[in-house]
Amino acid sequence: MFKKLFLSLLVLFTSCNSENKSEKSFYPGEFWLDNNGVHINAHGGGILYHQNKYFWYGEHKIEGEIGNTAQVGVHLYTSVNLYDWNDEGIVLKVNKNDPSSDIYKGCILERPKVIYNKKNKKFVMWFHLEPINRGYEAARSGVAISDSPFGPFTFIESIRPNAGVWPLNVQDFHKKPISSDVKKIYGGGPEHLPKHVDSLNLLGRDFEIGQMARDMTLFVDDDDKAYHIYSSEDNSTLHISQLSENYLTHSGKYKRFFPSKFNEAPTMMKTSSGKYFIVSSGCTGWNPNAARSASADSIFGPWKELGNPCISKDSLTTYYSQSTYILPVQGIKDAYIFMADRWKPENPIEGKYIWLPLKIKNNKLVELEWKEKWDLSIFESN
Ligand code: DGJ
Repeated sequence: MFKKLFLSLLVLFTSCNSENKSEKSFYPGEFWLDNNGVHINAHGGGILYHQNKYFWYGEHKIEGEIGNTAQVGVHLYTSVNLYDWNDEGIVLKVNKNDPSSDIYKGCILERPKVIYNKKNKKFVMWFHLEPINRGYEAARSGVAISDSPFGPFTFIESIRPNAGVWPLNVQDFHKKPISSDVKKIYGGGPEHLPKHVDSLNLLGRDFEIGQMARDMTLFVDDDDKAYHIYSSEDNSTLHISQLSENYLTHSGKYKRFFPSKFNEAPTMMKTSSGKYFIVSSGCTGWNPNAARSASADSIFGPWKELGNPCISKDSLTTYYSQSTYILPVQGIKDAYIFMADRWKPENPIEGKYIWLPLKIKNNKLVELEWKEKWDLSIFESN
């Protein structure tokens, strides 16, 4: 009798469990509720995997257009299965007391990414920072540090990368004197700059004060060297810049790529066989555009442009989204999730997340197919 009861309970338990399991799915573009039933608030985010947990850091947005500026800080969620996320609160708070702080409330603080430094056991966060009331013209990078992935993170400073340092692929014309009409800031999009933007020498313009850095990601390679990848030179050119050993500053080793191509929202991944891929966007403000991709055998190139990885309807808008991170799924070989934001600038807190499986074709191309609903079993054939 007791044995029978135990067995039926076991069947009930396992069937409930497997039912729950098969119910777990990603629903790109839908509201995504956290453990409190609230839509996840971690936009322009990135994910760190540490000690069997995923840590999703992103911009906390508030209601109304003011939510496009940082009123709160960087929000953290954690998960063990990638479907269910626990709200862990704000891990980097904007400064509400000192208007001279670079991260004073109302600044623009975008695309935070966190990496772990194994040597000194510190968690290092970098983000795109525009101190208050200057629009997007400062184009700085903020850095913050913590002893724990749960924070709190302490803001260290904001900088322009690589002041006084030429990139490895500098050209002779970059070192020539700059004409005074170039010494202005153009405004971010290709529409503000002449077609011959590269010959303007925006790199040389910013040589002494440091290079512009707006949309960005971080990438840690297999040898633990970390890289800051950012839209520079008025967004016209992407820079890949190696960080120092402690990840808190730039090492001085960097290269510029895709000049005059206006890549924003860069993301980077590396396959198990050592191929690097970048997926990025064009430059159209909050409006979506067609994604781009590129591949390389070495992080410092040469990079080969591969075009738009999206292959379904609405490919020209990246399914109404803009890239933010490529997440390697733990425990499955070459399983990557493309993470993107469907921005809602009129009410940013309602911005949705587009997560899609990223397919690598013959180690040559990346492909993104639209899915209304999917789960990690899609990677089982890997
Ligand atoms: C596009 C960028 O990718 C976003 O992070 C944000 O900076 C918007 N531009 C602002 O228009």
